[in-house]
Amino acid sequence: MTDFQPIVPYDDGNIDTNQSDNPTLNSLVNERYSRRQAIYGGMSASTLALFGTSMLAGCVEGDTNNAPVVTAGDNATISVGRVVTLTATAADDSAVSTAGWTQVSGPEAALSASNTATATFIAPAVANATDLRFRFTATDDKGLSSTADTVITVMPATLGFTAVPKAMTDVVTVPAGYTASVIYRVGDPIAAGVPAYANNGSDTNFAQRAGDQGDALYYYGLNTAGTARDDNNSTRGLLIMNHENIVEQYLHTNGQTITGGVRPESEAVKEMEAHGLSIVEVSQAANRSWSYSQTSTFNRRITPRTPMQFNGPVRGSVLLRTRFSPTGVAGRGTINNCANGYTPWATNLTCEENWAGYFRRRSTNDASRTPKELVGLARYTVGGGPLGGGANSWFSVVPADTTDTVWARWTAEVSGADATQDWRNEANQFGWVVEIDPYDPASTPRKRTALGRMAHEGAWPGLFTAGRRPAWYMGDDARGDYLYKFVSATAWDAADANRSDRLAVGDKYLDAGTLYVARFAADGSGAWLPLVFGQGNLTATNAAYAFSDQADVLTHARLAGDAVGATRMDRPEWTAVNPANGEMYLTLTNGNATSRPLAGTDAANPRHYNDPRTTGAAQRGNPNGHIIRIREAGDTTEATTFTWDVYAFGAGADLDPVNINISGLDATNDFSSPDGLWFSRPSNPAGRFNPLMWVQTDDGAYTDVTNCMMLAALPGRVGDGGAKTITNTDATGASRTQSTLVGKAPGAQLRRFLVGPVQCEVTGVDTTPDGRTLFVNIQHPGENGTLTAFTSNWPASQTGGTGRPRSATVVITKDDGGIIGL
Ligand code: FEO
Ligand code: CA
Ligand code: CA
Repeated sequence: MTDFQPIVPYDDGNIDTNQSDNPTLNSLVNERYSRRQAIYGGMSASTLALFGTSMLAGCVEGDTNNAPVVTAGDNATISVGRVVTLTATAADDSAVSTAGWTQVSGPEAALSASNTATATFIAPAVANATDLRFRFTATDDKGLSSTADTVITVMPATLGFTAVPKAMTDVVTVPAGYTASVIYRVGDPIAAGVPAYANNGSDTNFAQRAGDQGDALYYYGLNTAGTARDDNNSTRGLLIMNHENIVEQYLHTNGQTITGGVRPESEAVKEMEAHGLSIVEVSQAANRSWSYSQTSTFNRRITPRTPMQFNGPVRGSVLLRTRFSPTGVAGRGTINNCANGYTPWATNLTCEENWAGYFRRRSTNDASRTPKELVGLARYTVGGGPLGGGANSWFSVVPADTTDTVWARWTAEVSGADATQDWRNEANQFGWVVEIDPYDPASTPRKRTALGRMAHEGAWPGLFTAGRRPAWYMGDDARGDYLYKFVSATAWDAADANRSDRLAVGDKYLDAGTLYVARFAADGSGAWLPLVFGQGNLTATNAAYAFSDQADVLTHARLAGDAVGATRMDRPEWTAVNPANGEMYLTLTNGNATSRPLAGTDAANPRHYNDPRTTGAAQRGNPNGHIIRIREAGDTTEATTFTWDVYAFGAGADLDPVNINISGLDATNDFSSPDGLWFSRPSNPAGRFNPLMWVQTDDGAYTDVTNCMMLAALPGRVGDGGAKTITNTDATGASRTQSTLVGKAPGAQLRRFLVGPVQCEVTGVDTTPDGRTLFVNIQHPGENGTLTAFTSNWPASQTGGTGRPRSATVVITKDDGGIIGL
């Protein structure tokens, strides 16, 4: 009976004072002995291990106290990111005094509690099946203890939800087990005293309300007190988001008006201020519901009127000189901000995309421009034609605003004696990446000209490695435009991540470096071509455009890309970087028959086909888009060469599986026109080892079948597929073969997670650092409706209501508290 020696021999001699009907010591000993026999006789060795030593420790016959009898539950197997519940039992002949779980081995799991019989944790990141051993210990009121172990085997990450079907309903649909809630809508007040949004066109003061068309967003943690940066806080933080555009008909009582060619200033102010960005504090309540704070001192709107500072090589250039800034160092505002980027020193990079369309520049003014200037203006599609464009006709407001000039500046024409007397260069002040410090509402954003001027979609960084020069990847969203990379001149010092002078850190890394443009070769290799004045064709003798200096190269990066022979892509949208291996993914949202004709395909943009609509015209070219990815040589951001393949081709599941639906998409994952793209953060299990990637669509091709959507993927690696030759066919029936490189078919590792409401774009995605709360923007629902015929009532429709549709931010949580997507 030596097995029954108690762990701590102790006898207080008072056993006989127990007058209850509880079992006597002898009967307990006998019962335990017989159970022990049952264990040895009836259970497998592995099951026995579950009970550890618990049954076998605790008493000696005739002793007056026994250690607790404990169980730790069955061993189990579960995958990364799932919630695990450990449930133990403890019984004692007198009373259990303390009991709780500890982890014995394996990757660290954060137990929800250490002093109860039930504890939960989220299965941590693992690369391979890995055992985690947990021990339950109970101690009785006499100080005797028993333990029992359980082993949880954690398997590598897998998608953990059932695909959402394609849909054309007017709600946000998420998988079973998830909850989607709306937290922040266009017009919501973000300052004290601003009234709730009436949503009938009467509202004013968008400088203190959520802007329209929320796009890219990013979560910056605050400490629990809400006073300062804390990168790890997943319950309180700042959401920064772009407000790309407006759905103009819904902003005013009776839509936009114009009288005698002049817009009312009140309407134009509202429209202009509805652009830009917002920074708004959000927090999670104890019941895990989220809300924004109307009165946070961090709340801020940045609009096309907010003062800006120019930095980098173009600062002070003649190209930036305007009546507002005769020295070319300052400007007003940011506009049409689309995707974004971040820095490890906790600033946000917002990217100016379709800014060109806001400027009027009539062809009658061409005679006042040099031939070179006209080349630049045409390449960036600034104005042209007798009317000269100018979205929303802001240029027309108050023609005599000689002091404010907030309206006159939208006419980018020569009218004064020189550039400091007019707005000929105002369009040069846009098209940049702008760095914002979300933690300092008084800070002046800095336009980082070293990253070039284009229709910037985003600026996502590669991995930061101490001693290496970091890089940011950028798409230029126009048909036939390019993929760029900016490599800083300064090697990364990890200590800079924690500096409080954040924009000064930005000066260090973002104001000097090399801008490269990508050339994709047919063999699956590629090169980064430097855009450096004086190198190659980037000189004053370049035939198409005579470059003056580096400021000219950066301001006209597209022309520089032309000059060095970059690869024309099918509308480069978002970039995203796999946080586990540094591979970069780029969405190419679509190409049409003009931009990608049958004879104009190449290996990196290989398709020309028709996506038939259920009704209406044929859609030729590459209407469904694709996602390309690269692996840098040496896996370093400093590389000047890379390898590439196509991760996935968008297509309806019913299309030709050989030449169109090349990635073998099915009903669970077919998509069209990928745009938003993001990898889960490495601060939680979804972003480690085999990170989760999110794909969002901005589609006009498959919308006869489904609203726009968001998918989750575990995407593999560059080179996991192989070479393929497809046959393209045009409208005449002519055909042409094209070879390309295609990644392994995604299969079940790509799955539809969300479908949005009618006529929306799904865009902007981030999670809290713990990966348990996901934020996503639903942009322009019902954008094609009218004031008399809404085509969507979202977000009111999410809960059965009606009303003018509003862009809004949705927060998604998993009902069991686990990691989103896993
Ligand atoms: Fe604003 Fe290219 O999407
Ligand atoms: Ca006891
Ligand atoms: Ca976009």
